[in-house]
Amino acid sequence: MEKLLEVKNLTKVFTMGSILSRVRLTATDDVSFYIKPGEIFTLAGESGCGKTTTAKIILGFEEPTSGTIIHEGKDRAETKGKKVWQEEGIQAIFQDPFGTFNPLRVVDRYFFETLQNFKMAATKGEAIELIDETLQLVGLTYEEFAGKYPSEFSGGQLQRVSIARALLTKPNLLIADEPVSMVDASLRMSIVNLFKRLKEEASLGVLYITHDLATAYYVSERIAIMFRGNIVEMGPVEKVLMEPKHPYSQLLRESIPEADPTKRWSKRIVLAETEEEEYMRVGCKFAGRCPYVMDICKNQAPQDIDVDGVLVKCFLYNGNSATPHE
Ligand SMILES: Nc1ncnc2c1ncn2[C@@H]1O[C@H](COP(=O)(O)OP(=O)(O)OP(=O)(O)O)[C@@H](O)[C@H]1O
Ligand SMILES: [Mg+2]
Repeated sequence: MEKLLEVKNLTKVFTMGSILSRVRLTATDDVSFYIKPGEIFTLAGESGCGKTTTAKIILGFEEPTSGTIIHEGKDRAETKGKKVWQEEGIQAIFQDPFGTFNPLRVVDRYFFETLQNFKMAATKGEAIELIDETLQLVGLTYEEFAGKYPSEFSGGQLQRVSIARALLTKPNLLIADEPVSMVDASLRMSIVNLFKRLKEEASLGVLYITHDLATAYYVSERIAIMFRGNIVEMGPVEKVLMEPKHPYSQLLRESIPEADPTKRWSKRIVLAETEEEEYMRVGCKFAGRCPYVMDICKNQAPQDIDVDGVLVKCFLYNGNSATPHE
């Protein structure tokens, strides 16, 4: 099977605190997954589970502690260097489009610069044509956008502009880190529909990072559910979201996530006590909250088990059985 991106045994350890009280937090712990060309793959899970860390390592913004990133058969370690990820055909969009663009620069300059850097247009006319073509993909035109500052767009419009900018260099992989969480519900569907169209028409692969399981279900083929640095369940979106196997996925599905960006803005680096405690657990990270917890869960880390085509990291599927505790 052809793979566009392969993430293999990715581990990232952050060390925090003073010399006297060092805290080591494994933000991604032996994370492995792949994305096929033209596939939308979702990474979901609650705040602080390691989604952005995974994205940053794929983009080369952070160095992994261990593990490999392979894009189109090429090992990231061998193609290391600034901007290589862009030249390699990977582009990214983030949660806050207003953070993407400098408020004091007209947005079109970014587009002209990108075309210049990639030597994609010989004349200004050619550049405008290319920019207009790309903007049309996201439902905008050059006239609507030329000469404007970021503040002159609405959030939804600017997010579409940032998608267009990412598409300008015709990437084969788009890393979309919570691209719709700050966008009005009414516009969310138009953005995820755009991913779907680009996947079908341009064979774009997308790593879709989200809290929003509804859009994940709608656009993606496969999904990975992350919890405290581990992928706890991964498989076809239909199976994982309709019949979740891991107790955490079950909980996540029940608590339909709300769009509350303010929650995610709050000091991410400062750990809530339970978050830190959970990250430090030697056994299953979910043991403290799991309604099915057994002794083994507190002492040993569960391995991936293939259950009916879905990978599940849970002792319940190891031949153990348990009934929910009160
Ligand atoms: N540079 C850093 N230094 C120390 N800890 C970090 C750093 N970056 C992230 N972390 C910690 O790593 C964990 C995972 O963070 P990450 O941003 O990857 O989560 P996330 O899943 O993207 O969360 P959210 O949904 O809030 O965006 C968190 O506990 C976070 O506090
Ligand atoms: Mg994040």
